[in-house]
Amino acid sequence: MQSLSVVILAAGQGKRMKSALPKVLHDVAGKPMLSHVIDRANALSPQIITIVYGHAGEAVRAAFAHNNTLTWTEQSPQLGTGHAVLQAMSGAARTTDVTLVLYGDVPLVSVATLKTLVDDAATNKLAWLTMNVSNPKGLGRIVRDTNGRVREIVEDKDANDEQRKITEINTGFLACPTAWLARWLPMLGRNNAQGEYYLTDILKLAVDEGLTVDTHSPQHEWEITGVNSRDQLAALERTYQMEIAKNLMEAGVTLRDPSRIDVRGTLVCGEDVVIDINCIFEGSVALGQGVLIGAQCILRDCQIGEGTRILPFTMIDSATIGMNARIGPYARIRPGSTLADDVHIGNFVEVKASAIGDGSKANHLSYIGDTTVGKNVNVGAGTITCNYDGANKHRTVIEDNVHIGSDVQLVAPVTVHAGATVAAGTTIWKDVPANTLALNEKTQLAKTGWQRPKKPEKK
Ligand code: UD1
Ligand code: CA
Repeated sequence: MQSLSVVILAAGQGKRMKSALPKVLHDVAGKPMLSHVIDRANALSPQIITIVYGHAGEAVRAAFAHNNTLTWTEQSPQLGTGHAVLQAMSGAARTTDVTLVLYGDVPLVSVATLKTLVDDAATNKLAWLTMNVSNPKGLGRIVRDTNGRVREIVEDKDANDEQRKITEINTGFLACPTAWLARWLPMLGRNNAQGEYYLTDILKLAVDEGLTVDTHSPQHEWEITGVNSRDQLAALERTYQMEIAKNLMEAGVTLRDPSRIDVRGTLVCGEDVVIDINCIFEGSVALGQGVLIGAQCILRDCQIGEGTRILPFTMIDSATIGMNARIGPYARIRPGSTLADDVHIGNFVEVKASAIGDGSKANHLSYIGDTTVGKNVNVGAGTITCNYDGANKHRTVIEDNVHIGSDVQLVAPVTVHAGATVAAGTTIWKDVPANTLALNEKTQLAKTGWQRPKKPEKK
């Protein structure tokens, strides 16, 4: 195994984003572009990852302060891509066998593509990622000799008319034996249209030294697509989401419309999952076989068991739900909730930090917070757990086979023991013994002669 140094260029200003946020911190699929690049770099198990930062660089560093595996180097002023990589050629990075250059604003390059470059460079070659594209405008062109051997890269601004017709472009990605790079970078000049140190000029140095330059192409153009503006960001987001959608469908998921799903994290599905339109999946979500997700649901960090149906407009966050349950429409399951098999949670029911046992139901208009609900419990419409005294949260326990009528308040801490029944409209403030009926004594009067107030008659 050869040692690898990854250099991520992220010093560019990103002026066209018109944003206070540095470009590489803008999200694709719910994650900063630079995070995507770092994750891909990490998949190659490098010895060191160096991020070259510049404009608003402190904000970029701060956003990754939790990650102590990164090395940061500032490039100021920014004198071109060659100058940028040079900033990363010290310390541990310099002693590695191979260096791979990545871009903080090109987030979707595949690990397989990068691995091809690194493996090639590990056999003493300069491995360069190029691609034939329909619109090469603005990009560096790959100039080849009559035998098809690559000679040099000419930047768009430096190219002649003939060279501008070339459609094979420089993606910017390359892998190179580190010793070669360390030798060449100080040799670069800036005698060109932009007055910059061009990283691309090392290709000609390699050719002049008679070394082997291999070119490779990625499978998809979106792998090498960079982001300079908000419309490009949006376009890349859609491309990425469509790829995820395709992969889900290949794995046996029905998407009612693959252009109307957003996965911001990882979504793992069993077979025959059906997902209706406009659903958002965040963090890590796992859906068991045959799960149905209705339209307009938002699911974050949750596990849903086989055969469970999540009906439209439901939000689930950091929860586990068992098999054959029915949640929604319009339900909200908040963090720390565990719902067992065959549970029914209906419309306008909020569940927070609660465990609900097999077969229990809360079908309408309830708040169940900090509660343990046993098996086969019925929670009537409008039931509220009063869990908060203004300073502390208290738990409610509802044991197996309890029946709670409509419009009940349970003032925690309180326990309703197994088999008990709570009459409609009851306020429970002390424990209910097993198999009893709990009710508040109330009277109902019938007053005769009562005059309902009348509105003044219209003139
Ligand atoms: C560069 C390539 C060009 C290629 C294109 C692909 C050179 C000389 N040109 O063009 O052949 O087709 O990328 O997009 O390499 N950066 C720094 N410091 C700098 C300059 C740039 O960190 O001083 C970073 C930018 O943040 C960006 C990347 O390098 O992530 C590429 O810079 P950019 O200006 O977008 O590309 P070009 O130089 O135009
Ligand atoms: Ca430039």
